[in-house]
Amino acid sequence: MSTPARPFAHNGIAFGCDYNPEQWAPEVWDEDIALMGEAGVDLVAINIFGWSHIEPRPGEFDFRGLDDVLGRLHAAGIRVNLGTGTASPPAWLTAAHPEVLPMAEDGTRRYPGGRQAFCPSSPIFREAARRLTDAVARRYGEHPAVSLWHVSNEIGCHNALCYCDESAVAFRRWLRARYGTLDRLNAAWGTAFWSQVYGDWEEILPPRATLSARNPGQALDFHRFSSDELRENYRAEAEVIRAVSDVPITTNFMVTAHIENMDYWSWAADMGIIANDHYLDHRLDDPRAELAFAADLSRGLGQGAPWILMEHSTGAVNWQPLNKPKGAGEIIRNSLTHVARGADGVCFFQWRASVQGSEKFHSAMLPHAGTDTAVWREVVELGGIVERIGEVAGSRVHTDIALVFSWESWWATQTDSRPSRSLGYLDQVHAAYGALHALGLTIDIVAPGADLSGYRLVVVPGLHLVREEEASVITDWIAAGGTALVTFYSGTVDEDDRVWTGGYTGPFREALGIRVEEFAPVPPGEDLHLSSGTTARLWSERSRVTTAQVEASFVDGPSAGHPAVTRNAWGDGAAWYLATLPSAADYAALMRRIADEADVHPAAAIRSGNGAVELVRRRGAEASYLFIVNHGSTPASVEARGTELITGMPVTGVAAVPGGAVRIVREEAVA
Ligand code: GAL
Repeated sequence: MSTPARPFAHNGIAFGCDYNPEQWAPEVWDEDIALMGEAGVDLVAINIFGWSHIEPRPGEFDFRGLDDVLGRLHAAGIRVNLGTGTASPPAWLTAAHPEVLPMAEDGTRRYPGGRQAFCPSSPIFREAARRLTDAVARRYGEHPAVSLWHVSNEIGCHNALCYCDESAVAFRRWLRARYGTLDRLNAAWGTAFWSQVYGDWEEILPPRATLSARNPGQALDFHRFSSDELRENYRAEAEVIRAVSDVPITTNFMVTAHIENMDYWSWAADMGIIANDHYLDHRLDDPRAELAFAADLSRGLGQGAPWILMEHSTGAVNWQPLNKPKGAGEIIRNSLTHVARGADGVCFFQWRASVQGSEKFHSAMLPHAGTDTAVWREVVELGGIVERIGEVAGSRVHTDIALVFSWESWWATQTDSRPSRSLGYLDQVHAAYGALHALGLTIDIVAPGADLSGYRLVVVPGLHLVREEEASVITDWIAAGGTALVTFYSGTVDEDDRVWTGGYTGPFREALGIRVEEFAPVPPGEDLHLSSGTTARLWSERSRVTTAQVEASFVDGPSAGHPAVTRNAWGDGAAWYLATLPSAADYAALMRRIADEADVHPAAAIRSGNGAVELVRRRGAEASYLFIVNHGSTPASVEARGTELITGMPVTGVAAVPGGAVRIVREEAVA
């Protein structure tokens, strides 16, 4: 797809929401728009789930409601982020064509009645989505209110993996393009194992449910295929829009804790601007660190360019086992943490809380209880802040630290048969990120193979699947003087999920100066002790150092006596290896040692409030902006100089940040 004809342009930081006026009578719309004005809302996503309204019968379009809403928003000076409306097919489509419905791995269909009930490869769905997108794009492509196109919605949220016959056809097509010959496919999937050799393309199926473990190569390719198919859905709609409109196009990513099916590294270049949806996940140990990680990854997907937080919540969601509201000030802290980490837009799902449907207990900007509520007051306060800090827009976060993240490693780590079911890829990424985050450091998230020049510290958590050339980028960078930390299970398989032989960590082995001979995972709940006095869990390994120094070894557990933490001088740099999962505090302590060696530091010095304060600096052409988010309940103080943008007060050496507050200091003199 071509890049958008024009970039997303917005005055300051965008502030907005999903708006679903079709759930309300038109009398409510006037009140909505008046209240949006009060809150400072200036970017509204509509027509996200509009299909059955605007195309009530096949090929019969009714745009009266949408015309009206767009007109009202435009008259109020609110810009529109216009959905193509294809996120959820109408009942008439799946009633007439049940073969559009997605199929689970056990061969059973999933019914309509929820959302996203379609197979991403379905030609019938694709044609219907193309026709709708074309109609919407032609009608509104030049509408002055439309400032962004919102293709579908959270593509692949529910239907990423479809196992139907149509998917099988598309999977075979994709495999032919990837491998060309069956010989190559057989080699890549290791089909010599268990008599799985394919002699005809037609024999190949999606990895449907089996009695025993499935072929992991097939499962890995099915992930790649599915991510590509979903991206094709995006591209097909974007192409139709691009034919009639030069407005930038995007879709909302789900860089968040529980969604793994889309390799967004391969989607990012198609986006007019990166947009992400993020919801705090209270099932995690540290939801706040995960928020920071997701924001940093969103920025990484755009190669550092500003992005938009397309959805988050003002309070409880409705899809976790227990849905927690936010604490006082948390809407503001969460929102500004995203802005600190590069967002130029802060939007919520959704504007007005639904009274019906499965999301009626999901929070909104305008709660069921109305405007005389703490949530509404905080929303209005946030709107004011966002307006006041508009000059931050366009500035960029700079950091000395990169963390290598890979969706392919996520998929490969979690195929059927592995050393320990307790080992999760994202958990390892979060643990490493959390240790850096606890030190107040700012981190870029980069793809395997990304250029690392300019960084001083590189962290490679559990990069299970790695290509030789991707590993070389890291080891060459170390040899040139960098400091890196690689953690266990990295460098285990190549892109075909084939084990790197000769000792684990494969292409990292030489640089790390250690050969891992055997994995020895540890049962959940069992602690390990290291010679450094540290406790650890989950994992241990039996290995021998070749050239590395042992910094700590296992005192007990299945690998007693073997190295747990090593450091190898490699060229002009240092390659650290961690063969276990330390406790959070011990991980942070190790990271501090490595960070000190790499000479990387937080964005500013914290005088008081350590542990509860998040610091990030964005740099613009004229000034830089130090974001100080105080998550604690007591005041914090941070060394800074300049003007505080929220209060307008000068800062002459120390910024005092009340408990729970955020301060943003425009610094004139930071290099
Ligand atoms: C997102 C979705 C929204 C809404 C929200 C609830 O996944 O895009 O439509 O469902 O979550 O948290």
